[in-house]
Amino acid sequence: MINKCLFPVAGYGTRFLPSTKAMPKEMLPIVNKPLIQYGVQEAMEAGMRQIAFVTGRSKRAIEDHFDRTYELEDQISGTKAEHNLAEIRHLMQTCTFSYTRQVQMKGLGDAIRTGETLIGNQPFGVVLADDLCLGDDQPVLTQMVNIYRKYQCSIVGIEEVAHEDTEKYGIIAGKALEERLFMVDAMVEKPAASEAPSNLAIIGRYILTPDIFEVLRTLPPGRNGEIQITDALNIQAKNKMVLGYQFKGHRFDCGSLDGFVAATNYFFQRMGSSGNGG
Ligand code: G1P
Repeated sequence: MINKCLFPVAGYGTRFLPSTKAMPKEMLPIVNKPLIQYGVQEAMEAGMRQIAFVTGRSKRAIEDHFDRTYELEDQISGTKAEHNLAEIRHLMQTCTFSYTRQVQMKGLGDAIRTGETLIGNQPFGVVLADDLCLGDDQPVLTQMVNIYRKYQCSIVGIEEVAHEDTEKYGIIAGKALEERLFMVDAMVEKPAASEAPSNLAIIGRYILTPDIFEVLRTLPPGRNGEIQITDALNIQAKNKMVLGYQFKGHRFDCGSLDGFVAATNYFFQRMGSSGNGG
């Protein structure tokens, strides 16, 4: 249904300095698997097998991760350690990976617009790898593809946040359409609690229709002087339709130290009970 997924990975990860001085924040491991691999796996499970990265300087480790490592693989061939590569090998056999660079950090909207060259004229998923999502019955992107099948419009993953946290997220105003599904009237990027239209926050999962590129091309900078995807979606919501989907599952905000540690503890425990990292 949706074949491509875009991963904006050019950001600096300043909250994790000095770890992210020379290493992409997306390569930080949650136990033994880098954050980015969780996101790519979720995309693959949702049927998105063409993985597109909007990358930047000092992010080459991501490209190397989704490629063969001949010497190492030769060395561990036939040993117990080989088992640790099973998942990434499966990803590499199933998906293709392409890359383009965002030359200047001008915001998430600009990163997504930069990805047009890899996406073209078709609907696509967007995953912000910092948000590590665990779906209840199905992965979160799979849940969103199911909604897309019915409505064929842009969809943002949403969850309720504490009122004092609205300033960290894009926040939607909308009307309930079905259980867990909202028709978006408006959205605001990082409003103060006193100005937030609700406490329904956009999390790092989107399905976008390709007309978003047209909107992004002429969009003026918004919050923090950056091109905001939230502003582009706001225009789409006014011109046609955008949905907010309150996913079933749990999100770890691995862009924060607290969330990163919570995810690490969770996956470490799960590993202990199942004998692998899941
Ligand atoms: C971005 C978006 C924001 C969204 C958030 C989800 O913000 O601009 O609307 O709520 O991702 O993680 P960032 O966290 O990149 O500042």
